Amino acid sequence: MKIGIIGAGFIGRAIAKLALASGHEVMVSNSRGPQTLLSLVASLGCLTGTSLQAAQFGEVVVVAVPFGHYREIPVAPLAGKVVLDANNYYSERDGHIAELDLSLTTTSELLARHLNGARVVKAFNSIRVNDLEHDGRPAGASDRRALPICGDDAAAKALAAELTEQFGFDVVDAGSLAEGWRFQRGQPMYCERFDSAGLKKALSNPDEKHVLR
Ligand SMILES: NC(=O)c1ccc[n+]([C@@H]2O[C@H](COP(=O)([O-])OP(=O)(O)OC[C@H]3O[C@@H](n4cnc5c(N)ncnc54)[C@H](OP(=O)(O)O)[C@@H]3O)[C@@H](O)[C@H]2O)c1
Repeated sequence: MKIGIIGAGFIGRAIAKLALASGHEVMVSNSRGPQTLLSLVASLGCLTGTSLQAAQFGEVVVVAVPFGHYREIPVAPLAGKVVLDANNYYSERDGHIAELDLSLTTTSELLARHLNGARVVKAFNSIRVNDLEHDGRPAGASDRRALPICGDDAAAKALAAELTEQFGFDVVDAGSLAEGWRFQRGQPMYCERFDSAGLKKALSNPDEKHVLR
């Protein structure tokens, strides 16, 4: 599968590495342009391009940028495509976004609103980069970790789940995109290790006191 990645930082690179290891074609992009990603081509063997080119290239496109930049993600080439939203909101980094501070919406819903027509799935946000790179295990392993996803498009979620499983993780579907607050930053379970049963329990017993949507 062709996977475009917008954001060439810690998470974008880790996902690129895992996707290449799973046999996918990968194009990585950042805000400054592919001329700044020469070392990545040499180390990973991925393609590089502008964010527009990565959006056009991918059958699936991962967005992994500091959330304050979400409005810069190209809209037209992502219409109808599966977009995996790995982003989290840190106001100290991203600036304050009133709708999130007031818990009126979720980060993934904001991204989906911006990417009108894209099939957004929240994925890979609730795991630290080192864990994403090292916690993957073969299917059936007793210590296989589970990761949450959510979204409004069943086929898009199935694709996100397939990729997550290829990367060595079980998947727990938390429901619609609006349920993303259950595993956003601020929840006690955010970035913690769970197996499937433990994750289901954590998602169904979120701590409303810690909601930061
Ligand atoms: N690090 C983690 O453990 C972790 C885990 C889960 C989720 N996340 C979330 O994933 C996102 C990325 O985190 P990170 O740690 O990978 O960040 P990072 O290392 O700071 O990298 C951010 C990347 O985003 C790129 N970028 C910024 N604006 C862009 C734009 N408009 N178009 C294309 N690329 C753009 C930057 O490119 P330039 O350098 O060229 O500006 C950079 O390559 C964040 O929302 C974070 O909260 C992080």
